[in-house]
Amino acid sequence: MEDLSLHILDIVENSLRAGAKDVEIIVKEDQEADSLEIEIIDDGPGIDAPMLEKVLDPFFTTKSVRKVGLGLSLFREAARAAGGELIIESEPGKGTRVNVSMQHSHVDRQPLGDPVRTLRTLIVSHPEVRFRFCHRKNGDEDRFDSGQHKGDVSVRPRKWSKNGNRNQRIKPLTKTKD
Ligand SMILES: Nc1ncnc2c1ncn2[C@@H]1O[C@H](COP(=O)(O)OP(=O)(O)OP(=O)(O)O)[C@@H](O)[C@H]1O
Ligand SMILES: [Mg+2]
Repeated sequence: MEDLSLHILDIVENSLRAGAKDVEIIVKEDQEADSLEIEIIDDGPGIDAPMLEKVLDPFFTTKSVRKVGLGLSLFREAARAAGGELIIESEPGKGTRVNVSMQHSHVDRQPLGDPVRTLRTLIVSHPEVRFRFCHRKNGDEDRFDSGQHKGDVSVRPRKWSKNGNRNQRIKPLTKTKD
């Protein structure tokens, strides 16, 4: 995997395959604390305890087309290589949460890539699903909620800055004519 945004895509695809209708993606970068955290939370059917023990095993998958399932184990490997960890928590009937931490400055940390592009790909291919996205970097925060825009990918994430200026436009999801 080239960058962390592709790992995010992979983890969200698990949620979608399980039937989630509400997926939250949170990216938190804190360079002062030298941490990068990624969290993916879904409202899918969850994973029961015996299965939860197996899902990080690269030889475990519920896909019938092949015998290995690498999404979670590769992401865990990437986290560990950067001095971090992947934790998966799940409650049957409620959903699943995947939390990945990394040392921000670690030489082996993969680049974040373009999480907004990942988000756009997901919204376009799954318009029936509500995606919430939050990218906090040091003091700044960008948020997007597809539930408010009915899958309209021309809507841009908004900057949620500490000084209360919440309407400043930032990075477009798609290039639109203004
Ligand atoms: N959010 C989730 N909700 C329910 N089940 C999940 C979720 N995430 C993972 N799983 C279960 O864990 C298994 C392993 O996931 P993993 O991403 O590691 O491999 P995979 O999806 O099977 O294959 P690959 O990611 O290589 O295409 C999945 O097959 C699925 O059964
Ligand atoms: Mg997978």
